[in-house]
Amino acid sequence: MGRPPAEAVLPLPLQLLDGLRRARHVVVLTGAGISAESGIPTFRDALTGLWARFRPEELATPDAFVRDPDLVWQWYQWRREQIAAARPNAGHLALAALERLVPRLTLVTQNVDGLHQQAGSRQVVEFHGNIHRNRCSMDQELVDVDVRGTRRPPRCPRCGGMVRPDVVWFGEPIPRACLVQSQSAVARCDLFVSVGTSALVEPAAGLARLAREAGAVIVEINPAETPLTSSADYALQGAAGQLLPALAAALA
Ligand code: OAD
Repeated sequence: MGRPPAEAVLPLPLQLLDGLRRARHVVVLTGAGISAESGIPTFRDALTGLWARFRPEELATPDAFVRDPDLVWQWYQWRREQIAAARPNAGHLALAALERLVPRLTLVTQNVDGLHQQAGSRQVVEFHGNIHRNRCSMDQELVDVDVRGTRRPPRCPRCGGMVRPDVVWFGEPIPRACLVQSQSAVARCDLFVSVGTSALVEPAAGLARLAREAGAVIVEINPAETPLTSSADYALQGAAGQLLPALAAALA
């Protein structure tokens, strides 16, 4: 006996499945919630989120790095260890599968963990950078150094500047190429899916507004309400690791 269709397992709206089957260009925006089921803490969840235990202005700003580079470096080294121990979960894998099932899918992620690529997604725009890469805080060029076990930022071999993680901090602009790529994909998409993000941080949160202006169907996947929920065409309340595999299975 074959598996029951996903819509029989989970209450997925049939109209949404129709929209997904017809979509020519899907944009998916992911946030920390999609990696939560891989064991990586989110930022804003009340008890477990990183910002419940740490102060962003002391750890994730250019000023913080100037004030106390060792502290910032060690915090990123700790996060790197957590991320290195994590594996893609069913949600990441379902998005990689979905990319092969629709004519075009652009995946924009605010996550810096690289788990979408590990899961097999090919078209990934890393809106907030990647924690596995490093760059010089002076000349801004990428630096390829082995940082394992370091407790202070290494020095750039070119100019001697301090090396920092290649991520976007509060107050810093999104890399231009990423912004342009995301905005032009959103302007052309017919379906926009926001997964596991609190939809609070700009300019990522604004992508959903752009998608709406472009006439796209807006879908949200999140166990909690966000500022996007009330305006989404479909707000699917639940975990990405359950709902995304159901969507991908329904399409397959
Ligand atoms: P947040 O921590 O703000 O939000 C995570 C969202 O994931 C919340 O809305 C949760 O309800 C939801 N969530 C939790 N578990 C989930 C699950 N299993 N499935 C689906 N959703 C789940 O994280 P982001 O929105 O990614 O930026 O935060 C945006 C940016 O703020 C981050 O990229 C980071 C942070 O400060 C910088 O560091 C610049």
